[in-house]
Amino acid sequence: MEAPCSNLLHIQDSVTHDPVHAHPLLQDMDSYRKMYNESIKDGNAFWKRMAEELLTWFRPFERVCNVDLSDEDCAIPEDGCVSWFEGGRLNACYNAVDRHVINGRGKKVALLHEANEVGVCRKVTFETLLKCVSQVANALLSMSVRKGEVVTIYMPMIPETVYCMLGCARIGAVANLVFSGFSSSALATRLQSTRSRVLLTADRLNRGNRLVELMPVVKDALLVCPHVEYCVVYQNSDQSVPRDGLEIADQLTCQSHSSALSDLSNSMAGIVQNFHHLIFYDFTEWMGKERMYCPCEWMDSEDPLFVLYTSGSTGKPKGMIHTTGGYLVYASLTHKYLFKVREDDVYACMTDLGWITGHTYVVWGPLLNGTTTCMFESTPLYPNPCRYWDFVQRYKVNIFYTAPTAIRALMKYGESEVSKYDLSTLRVLGTVGEPISPSAWEWYYRVVGKGKCSIVDSYWMTESGGILLAPIPGVTPMKPGSCCLPFFGIKPALIDPNTGDELTSKGIKGVMCVSKPWPSMARGMHGDYKRFVCTYFEPYRRHFFTGDGAYLDKDGYFWITGRLDDVINVSGHRLSTAEIEASLASHGTCTDVAVIGIPHDIKGQSICAFCVPKRGYEFQENLTFELCQHVRRTIASMAMPDKLYLVPALPKTRSGKVMRRLLRKIAAFEFDSLGDISTLAEAEVIDQIISVVRRQGGHK
Ligand code: PRX
Repeated sequence: MEAPCSNLLHIQDSVTHDPVHAHPLLQDMDSYRKMYNESIKDGNAFWKRMAEELLTWFRPFERVCNVDLSDEDCAIPEDGCVSWFEGGRLNACYNAVDRHVINGRGKKVALLHEANEVGVCRKVTFETLLKCVSQVANALLSMSVRKGEVVTIYMPMIPETVYCMLGCARIGAVANLVFSGFSSSALATRLQSTRSRVLLTADRLNRGNRLVELMPVVKDALLVCPHVEYCVVYQNSDQSVPRDGLEIADQLTCQSHSSALSDLSNSMAGIVQNFHHLIFYDFTEWMGKERMYCPCEWMDSEDPLFVLYTSGSTGKPKGMIHTTGGYLVYASLTHKYLFKVREDDVYACMTDLGWITGHTYVVWGPLLNGTTTCMFESTPLYPNPCRYWDFVQRYKVNIFYTAPTAIRALMKYGESEVSKYDLSTLRVLGTVGEPISPSAWEWYYRVVGKGKCSIVDSYWMTESGGILLAPIPGVTPMKPGSCCLPFFGIKPALIDPNTGDELTSKGIKGVMCVSKPWPSMARGMHGDYKRFVCTYFEPYRRHFFTGDGAYLDKDGYFWITGRLDDVINVSGHRLSTAEIEASLASHGTCTDVAVIGIPHDIKGQSICAFCVPKRGYEFQENLTFELCQHVRRTIASMAMPDKLYLVPALPKTRSGKVMRRLLRKIAAFEFDSLGDISTLAEAEVIDQIISVVRRQGGHK
């Protein structure tokens, strides 16, 4: 029963006591504290109970963690090597799908998919999901995909993508999702570094007004990936054959094993380029011919479940590895408590599957808990800025989870666009990906949630696998803009960056770290364990380094202040300035480049590039445009600089280090507060850059 306590609702001292809907599992802050203390003081008992309650194990685990969690002061091993639920065997897909069918919930909707066009909807029950996933699993087996093999999935927000993720898990293959907005080079790098033999993809990406043909992108990637043996294409367009099929066949020696793609194989006849041997399948036929049941492969708790590439502070993306048991326990537990899920809830996390939020909170968390999870193929602004609200009304959504950038974009259109819709089903509103400003928070709370919903500002990252800090809805008093308190088992530590010591007093800023192992922490970086240790465990001994700064207020609430490294956050997308710089440099027309993030009202940060053209290219017409397009082609359109300045030189120290601090000030038009420039090698560069920036006008 919901507690009808809306009369208690008030915002005081910027603390909001949630309240209209009680939490089904936790009564109040005392119960949170009790459970939190247990999770920290006796992690062994806590996680044993959680793992047994939340998952079905084929064989029980023998040990909770390689680190003794009954010791309150236990820390993360220096080499970052942790293992959870050792000896246990289980299957992720069985837990997310089969057991709900076995328990008589087969007719319940598991996936609710809304396509790009309003109201075009597909509902997939757990029963159907089991059949489809089994077919995909069998089809993968027929290609001899085996346990531990990485399968790359480059697909849009459609149910088939989930079939592929779960199908991989069913047979013990490791899914490697590549966000479908990435370019052919980004796809190729990920195919190459995982040595994938199998690529599962689609012919088209439908995103608002943009209908992107994926086949040309796939073709370009395949041309440099001769190790790919199979390419399975889902027809996400009206066409029966990928438009670019013929073109692909011109360049690759391949066969087609499906009638839908027969043009492809026909056009192949006589082509002997001896490039490589590649077989194309039409996705629907490929899975359609398979049996609708596939037995599960029982995996070790520490067997990898998926690899997901994310940006780091160097130019090379990092393939984070997540394993089975610990990841699933944490995904299920966080989803259950932080979204206050009930049996008949409709839960909608609006993120793409290509990001960690899509993995943990569109697929694994909700499906493990038997929740109806929504998938949204379009954008919040298509065909108009009411799309989200129409979605909530149409499907009677109870829990809605999105990014602050979307909230900021929608705020612009005013309250009237929201109030046209009945949003009374909403109970919990989540946000993720970047700090949410108090004004965006307040708008979300008051206009969308009508002051009756909890705002779950969830702080976490690809590496953490699940949410680290967030208020528990209906329990934790909220503060607009703060991700509040740690989740069970998470022991945050603020570190002084100068001394490396833990800061223990309140009201201070420091480096955000975690000092105890938690079940869903990443287990490694694909092909580079050394970099894994060096990035996360070496900066602050026996702690996990998140990459963020944070402020701890007098009440013990955390406020994330942003990244401390060269990672920037553009519309909730994590991008590496070094990667964008490497792309600009590879164009070959510049001697020097520097990329920075600058504050942006809607996107959070926008990308600003400073490029020094080589002699002879200074006056090349369209160079700015060309450089931006090059970034789009080599990384993704979201990585394209919003502003690109062609400058005669970059401000550097005498040791040759680019002074980004100065570039940030100049890009923000703060010419009068540049601070100390005495370490600059050539001080006159500053005036030259300022004059270019003035001439070209401010940033977008
Ligand atoms: O800087 C933090 C920011 O997003 C980074 C992680 O990005 P990614 O791995 O792409 O995962 C995003 C979704 C989990 C973090 O290091 N970030 C994420 N959530 C928040 C946040 N910053 C402030 N508040 C948040 N709630």
